[in-house]
Amino acid sequence: MSQESHHLLRDKRGLIFGPLNEQSLAWQISLACHREGARLALSNTKMAFRFGPIRELARVCGDAPLIACDASSSKDLEKAFQELKSTLGRVDFIVHSIGMSPNVRKKRSYGDLNYDWFHKTLDVSALSLHRIVSEALKSDSLNDGGSIVALTYIGAQRIFSRYSDMGDAKALLESVARSFGYRLGRRGIRINTVSQSPTRTTAGSGIKGFDRLYEAADKMSPLGNAQAEDCADFVVALVSDLTRKVTMQNLYHDGGFSSVGMSDALLDALSGPDED
Ligand SMILES: NC(=O)c1ccc[n+]([C@@H]2O[C@H](COP(=O)([O-])OP(=O)(O)OC[C@H]3O[C@@H](n4cnc5c(N)ncnc54)[C@H](O)[C@@H]3O)[C@@H](O)[C@H]2O)c1
Repeated sequence: MSQESHHLLRDKRGLIFGPLNEQSLAWQISLACHREGARLALSNTKMAFRFGPIRELARVCGDAPLIACDASSSKDLEKAFQELKSTLGRVDFIVHSIGMSPNVRKKRSYGDLNYDWFHKTLDVSALSLHRIVSEALKSDSLNDGGSIVALTYIGAQRIFSRYSDMGDAKALLESVARSFGYRLGRRGIRINTVSQSPTRTTAGSGIKGFDRLYEAADKMSPLGNAQAEDCADFVVALVSDLTRKVTMQNLYHDGGFSSVGMSDALLDALSGPDED
């Protein structure tokens, strides 16, 4: 991560959902936004507050207010945005870095999904973005000219055999971003999704065979896998004033993975160097 501040977010305030531990994308995003001068509020579930080191992050980020909230509950979100207004005030950006699939956690194959869990996957990982944006607007917590970013994965466009119902959830998440992007444009508010490389986090590592997926993606990507710190810098750009006309996009932040069909590095790993 770039250590030097460019003061890109000097006058900005932001709400970041999803920092759990140091590996979390949202953790690194919080540090990078703080480095660039933003004032932050951080949110996660009560359970995450109880078991995770998030208080330490809040301290490092200038005693950022901590807001407990289940992002799949509109009631919780309504309270969360009231709390936001009374602590930090209206914000200029919101980061959604939330994902969870009980089917993936419990290794249920796509053909044998538990449908209650499938609903939970969609509710937590995709509809939560709709609920968050909707509550932010209802409570008048988001400034005109603001920016919303949600984290996604290329499993929305292509099949990754072990990604199960998360592929469907990410497709829905990206669609929600586009639908709101259209509606929020008149207020100068933009909304984009960042499609990140496989990253060693609690959510990422829950996917069966994650280490091999990680290695294969690294070999396919001309720049190598993007790390959480790289992702954080990219998100800073997207919530800064330097990207005012970028909206409704799914932006690949994956070291070039999404444009490669096959690479020498992966072929060599599968078959040994230059057979021909
Ligand atoms: N790790 C990867 O390989 C990878 C790649 C691309 C995209 N992503 C996406 O990045 C985002 C962040 O995941 P991560 O990899 O940093 O893992 P992570 O486990 O650190 O973060 C996921 C967060 O979601 C939170 N969460 C779960 N249920 C919630 C609920 N009901 N309400 C509020 N918060 C809830 C968790 O507490 C956790 O903080 C997710 O959307 C994930 O799908 C991850």
